Amino acid sequence: MSLKYDILKPEIGARVYLDRAGIGNPQVAQQLLELLETHTVLVFPGIDLSDGEQLALTDALGGRINIATRIAGLEREKTAEVYQVTLNEGAAIEKEYVLGTFFWHMDGLTVDVPPPKATVLSARHLAPKGGQTEFASTKAAYAALAEDEKAEIAGLRVLHTVTASLRELMPPGALDAARRTLRHEHPLVWTRANGTQSLVIGSTADLINGKSQAESRALLARLLDWTVQPAFTYRHNWSHGDCVVWDNTSALHRVLPYAVDSGRMMHRTTIAGLESVA
Ligand code: OGA
Ligand code: MN
Repeated sequence: MSLKYDILKPEIGARVYLDRAGIGNPQVAQQLLELLETHTVLVFPGIDLSDGEQLALTDALGGRINIATRIAGLEREKTAEVYQVTLNEGAAIEKEYVLGTFFWHMDGLTVDVPPPKATVLSARHLAPKGGQTEFASTKAAYAALAEDEKAEIAGLRVLHTVTASLRELMPPGALDAARRTLRHEHPLVWTRANGTQSLVIGSTADLINGKSQAESRALLARLLDWTVQPAFTYRHNWSHGDCVVWDNTSALHRVLPYAVDSGRMMHRTTIAGLESVA
């Protein structure tokens, strides 16, 4: 049995025709994991998963993790297994956190667990304007660097902080204590056990070990510009019921701005990471 799929762009993105009845099938899961490794972003058009089905898909691909429970001080009801990513009034996730998704990032880099392997996002309510999600392959971007550029960044380590990721939204002092202290250092180039290599960058990247602030921010900005060039990116224009799974270890993502009153509602689950950045 083999899933049908179309390649969206040579470096990133595939549209996969998954029948929801196949979610629990181990062979299907195996093929999805292979497609995810190769194409980084998998789109399941209009699959219209229930929360239960989304959790089953999440578990089939490696098991769920709740990143929010790693953050001390968050209330229990804010750490539901299926996150509602929305700017709607009274939403459980903090508004600042959601506004932070407007900027290129990887999920879960500042908490003390291996970065999530993948993120699963389902469209429940679309914004009339904006709200497309963009993905950039940090794997393709690293592979395409010139050898001297790879040599220049080999062995470097980057401090990732929540304060850096919210830099565009608020002064660092305005951040609550639980978040202000969230930080984690990672190698700039992640070499996986299977040999895959990618850049570990994005809005949480704050400083490079042993470099001045100016030098490290300039290098991080240059690598980000390189990574988000059109050849390495895919923009998803959501339709109702679409589900997208992306390899969080090999891609950055961001959402195009949408209004607070847009009604946009996405349901998100997270697949646990197995490997620390090394
Ligand atoms: C997130 C995220 C993107 C989107 O929830 O971590 O980046 O399109 N969401 O809402
Ligand atoms: Mn995200």
